[in-house]
Amino acid sequence: MIRVLVSENQPGDADRLVGALGEAGDIQVVGLTRDGLETVQMIAQLHPDIALVRAQMPGMDGFQVCRLAAVASPHTCCILVAEAPNAEDILGREAMRAGARAVISLQADLGVLLRLISDLASVTPALDDTDLQIASDPTRVPFTVAVTGAKGGIGKTTITTNLGVALARRFPDQVVVVDFVGHYADINLLLDIPADGSILELADYDEIDEALVMSRLSRHESSLRVMAGVNSAASMDAPGRLGLATVANLLGILRRRFRIILFDIAPIVYPLSQYVFLRSNLIVVVSVLTELSTIRNTGSLLASLVGPHIPAERVKLVANRVDPTDPFGVADLQQTAKHPVLLQIPRSNEVVLGALNSGVPFVISRPTSPVARAVESLAEVVVAEMPKGEERTPSAG
Ligand SMILES: Nc1ncnc2c1ncn2[C@@H]1O[C@H](COP(=O)(O)OP(=O)(O)OP(=O)(O)O)[C@@H](O)[C@H]1O
Ligand SMILES: [Mg+2]
Repeated sequence: MIRVLVSENQPGDADRLVGALGEAGDIQVVGLTRDGLETVQMIAQLHPDIALVRAQMPGMDGFQVCRLAAVASPHTCCILVAEAPNAEDILGREAMRAGARAVISLQADLGVLLRLISDLASVTPALDDTDLQIASDPTRVPFTVAVTGAKGGIGKTTITTNLGVALARRFPDQVVVVDFVGHYADINLLLDIPADGSILELADYDEIDEALVMSRLSRHESSLRVMAGVNSAASMDAPGRLGLATVANLLGILRRRFRIILFDIAPIVYPLSQYVFLRSNLIVVVSVLTELSTIRNTGSLLASLVGPHIPAERVKLVANRVDPTDPFGVADLQQTAKHPVLLQIPRSNEVVLGALNSGVPFVISRPTSPVARAVESLAEVVVAEMPKGEERTPSAG
């Protein structure tokens, strides 16, 4: 049933129309109003699918009614009804600016009006439309996190993998990590799962779709999904073969399918890395306190990341492999990087290498170790930054 509100500018002048709409079968006239203010009030209270708004009404005119209705009941489509036979031509622009969805002449055939009503009702998405839910439900908004660092070998993959597992336990089946573009399928090695394809294979397709992407993900027992990196020396030119369009499609598909998307990504795969950074809700920059060169490079990386499109709050600086014997301290890193250090992850060869050798991530095998606790607290930071949804209550009516 299409719920329609009808306004008239003289008592009784819409009787014929109301009768005809009622006979159409799938239309229910939910109200009849006689002036502009009353029309807005009824729209706000009844939330009709369609409101037939007379351009001229006592008090407030139809354009103003449309403007207010757009705020009071955004789902209602207002059709401005005017006397002139060519109303659409002469009033169309002004009506659209006021928020009307269509203009029709009072003299138009009833058939034309009925078609317009059913067209508008069908293009307006139903509240249970899946795409609308994904787009508007804060509990379903995807959250993208890039883990990067100014140097190789500073712990990006170790942190991303354990963070992924920690998050997958909080959001079962809703977390994916993309090895972008690590060599020797590092993440799969850390998880001891075979790579069911690699990100590089996507470069062979002109167009990638959800089925293809999903078929290339491996699954860890924690429910974490992995898009593997490159696992053969022959494919070391991977980033060069991956086009921006493929990366854009991949991210789009993953954002539709998963709640959290993690990237293990070096900044050097420019411009692909820039594409990912610009679309990340959080960028975790990993550094270490063992060499001055790394600290300085971290400063340069932060300076190039933070700018008009990436606010400083979005970038979280993490010191990894921290040990009391390090020649530099957190204060040195903060000063050089001009950015606060959010978290320190201690050095623990025993725990980290043990996990690597056993193929069981340390957040699972050694959950109470300081290094696992530190990664768990990074997971908490991610969760705290994610959009929070109020419990959705089914709307009345
Ligand atoms: N907190 C830690 N304590 C001890 N060892 C660590 C720690 N974090 C990482 N490592 C070790 O450091 C090495 C490099 O880590 P990892 O591979 O995660 O770095 P990366 O930044 O991903 O390197 P690449 O640039 O090659 O991809 C590994 O051997 C790993 O086990
Ligand atoms: Mg790595």
